[in-house]
Amino acid sequence: MEVILRDLTKKFPGRDRKRRSEVTAVSHMSLAIPDGQLLALLGPSGCGKSTVLNLISGLLQPTEGRILFGEEDVTSQPPEKRGIGLVFQNYALYPHLTVKQNILFPLENLKGKDRPGRDEMLQKAKEAAGLVQIEELMDRKPAELSGGQQQRVAIARALVKRPKVLLLDEPLSNLDARLRIQTREEIRRIQRETKITTVFVTHDQEEAMSISDLIVVMKEGIVQQSGRPQEVYDSPQNLFVAKFLGTPPINVFEAQVRDHMLCIGDEAVLRVGNVPDAAVYAGVRPEGFLLREAGAFSCRLERVEVTGRDISAVCGHTASVNASVRALVGTQGGEADGLSAMPEGSRVRFDLLPHKVFLFDRETEERISFEEN
Ligand SMILES: Nc1ncnc2c1ncn2[C@@H]1O[C@H](COP(=O)(O)OP(=O)(O)O)[C@@H](O)[C@H]1O
Ligand SMILES: [Mg+2]
Repeated sequence: MEVILRDLTKKFPGRDRKRRSEVTAVSHMSLAIPDGQLLALLGPSGCGKSTVLNLISGLLQPTEGRILFGEEDVTSQPPEKRGIGLVFQNYALYPHLTVKQNILFPLENLKGKDRPGRDEMLQKAKEAAGLVQIEELMDRKPAELSGGQQQRVAIARALVKRPKVLLLDEPLSNLDARLRIQTREEIRRIQRETKITTVFVTHDQEEAMSISDLIVVMKEGIVQQSGRPQEVYDSPQNLFVAKFLGTPPINVFEAQVRDHMLCIGDEAVLRVGNVPDAAVYAGVRPEGFLLREAGAFSCRLERVEVTGRDISAVCGHTASVNASVRALVGTQGGEADGLSAMPEGSRVRFDLLPHKVFLFDRETEERISFEEN
């Protein structure tokens, strides 16, 4: 089922009655979620993600705009008519019911001709439990389950009616790190198997990148950018998006363009052919530094961090907006050995990989694209 958001706005009345200030939680959001895809809504806390999800579910009514499921305008339909499945951060299982009863609950709540017979209900509950691999837990109560198992039950309960659209609001936030990765892979597998159009809300960029076909980055109720995760990472439209995606985060410098050269501090580090002289922000991804003895960019080595997978040179630079500059160096080859042998405080030189460097206007923070020659 394709889901279309057309110019959606949601305003809440302000909490301060006297001043009657309104909160615009979502502002003029337009989006098409293709049939069968998993879309991640990503942004910091308070940017309007849950509001968007609740508008799609029908738990909230938009102030302006329309919502379409396929050809059908569902804007004024109540949640129970929309054919959606919902999963929240806090599982929200009924503690006094068994796993089986929890999964059956949405079916038992159906009325009239929509309500299946007992055998069919049990069959559907079994299928849903099978999808999330909890068949052997059917007779337990929620208190007898781990957090990860409880969330699987909640997902099974959301799937049992075979929803047209599955909506997940930070479903992994209550799980510990290892379980979070396992459960997100699980959700991805289930989504691929069932091909249910899915919206997954998270503030965790790594989670969003790893799980989704498409991501939408939001800030203060406004969509900043949408696209395939890799596209958005490789081609951020503004400084906010560049900073929000990537671990370790992008390094940002106060820089200048002079005579078609990008200058950071006193050093001309990269040719930026078409860009006129201006003060800019230069963003450099941590993987954009190449350790080179005669490199164009230098900084002061503070320490070397080893994670097993790679080595980070953590450096200081007066033009850096971040507290420190972080350059990732592969563990292969002699480069890393050389770095480890360098004393703290020495100058390290790098060349910058042009496609890992982004320029942003200092005023608007919009991306300025450049040509390498
Ligand atoms: N029922 C409400 N009444 C008033 N303000 C609300 C209500 N729900 C959300 N908001 C406000 O709308 C904004 C977006 O909230 P929300 O969608 O919950 O963000 P997120 O899920 O991204 O953390 C926030 O400023 C929040 O305080
Ligand atoms: Mg939320």
